[in-house]
Amino acid sequence: MNKLTLTRPDDWHLHLRDGEVLPDLVSHTARQFSRALVMPNLKPPVTTVQQAKQYQQRIIDAAKKAGYPNFLPLMTLYLTDKTLPSEVDLAVENGLVGVKLYPAGATTNSDAGVTNLQQCDATIARMAELGLALLVHGEVTHQGVDVFDREAVFIDEVLDPLRKRHPRLKVVFEHITTKQAVDYVEQASTTDQGQIAATITAHHLLYNRNAIFQGGIRPHYYCLPILKREVHRQALLSAATGGSKKFFLGTDSAPHAKHLKEHPCGCAGCFTAAQAIELYAQAFDSVGKIQQLEGFAAFHGADFYGLPRNQEQITIEKKTQKVPASYTMGKELLVPLNAEESLEWSFLG
Ligand code: NCD
Ligand code: ZN
Ligand code: ZN
Repeated sequence: MNKLTLTRPDDWHLHLRDGEVLPDLVSHTARQFSRALVMPNLKPPVTTVQQAKQYQQRIIDAAKKAGYPNFLPLMTLYLTDKTLPSEVDLAVENGLVGVKLYPAGATTNSDAGVTNLQQCDATIARMAELGLALLVHGEVTHQGVDVFDREAVFIDEVLDPLRKRHPRLKVVFEHITTKQAVDYVEQASTTDQGQIAATITAHHLLYNRNAIFQGGIRPHYYCLPILKREVHRQALLSAATGGSKKFFLGTDSAPHAKHLKEHPCGCAGCFTAAQAIELYAQAFDSVGKIQQLEGFAAFHGADFYGLPRNQEQITIEKKTQKVPASYTMGKELLVPLNAEESLEWSFLG
């Protein structure tokens, strides 16, 4: 079987940036996906509902201009030490789907993030009451912790205590990269009133940390949380392809201009949006689980967020394609992951 038709997927973790690059970036995602949950780590960050609504409208306008009038961006707020519980009420009234936790200093544009999560307890309590999800970049930031251990330590030091303080809180553990994260999400008891789910990127399903050092240093494979050992990749692949509704697609496609990736202090983030579904197809196919792709890509996320499943379909084909060397992003060049390499699957539309 060479062709596969599936319900049009959603991307539950995406960076679209803002301004003149928006039309170029949104078109890659809107070509394949119905909806995307857009991350709020702009400069300055999206910390109010009003800013989120204005940003949403700019994305809708850019998508229309690019020929995708039906693309729906879903919005989150960037949590800071100062976010008030009343902003949570406003977020729910205005159809925002979550609040994003960036521990200060953990990743790109996280400087305004949370320094001490306990200070946010009143705001998070309100989220638990209203059923608004907390989306988590799950890494600790203290210098004493090895960069490869930051996610596992976060589970014990931050995430589990948080969920014990707020047992009804809905949590999405974003872009998980370790066996510890898979185990934590899988084992979270079904008797918990709060639910926990996780997004998984295509690059963490396809690559282990060797990819960053293959014959030299490869900045396009550098993202946060950083790629891990093979044992972790295997755990992620089993979770994504195993049919559990707790795991769903979030590309974490994170574009940075070519000169800022290929730089002595290169930015973290892999740009995968242009071949997103093909990369996931390759990962699922590698373990003979292509039939599980539709649930992971189109159903589990919508069900978790309590949103309707998409009605349209897309078709992909097992046919080689060559990834372009670069794309334009406003006045800059943007290098995709796998630039100039062959992928096994193609997106037909
Ligand atoms: C993301 C970005 O560039 O905004 N980078 C990344 O490496 N994943 C931020 C993030 O998702 O942590
Ligand atoms: Zn992140
Ligand atoms: Zn991200």
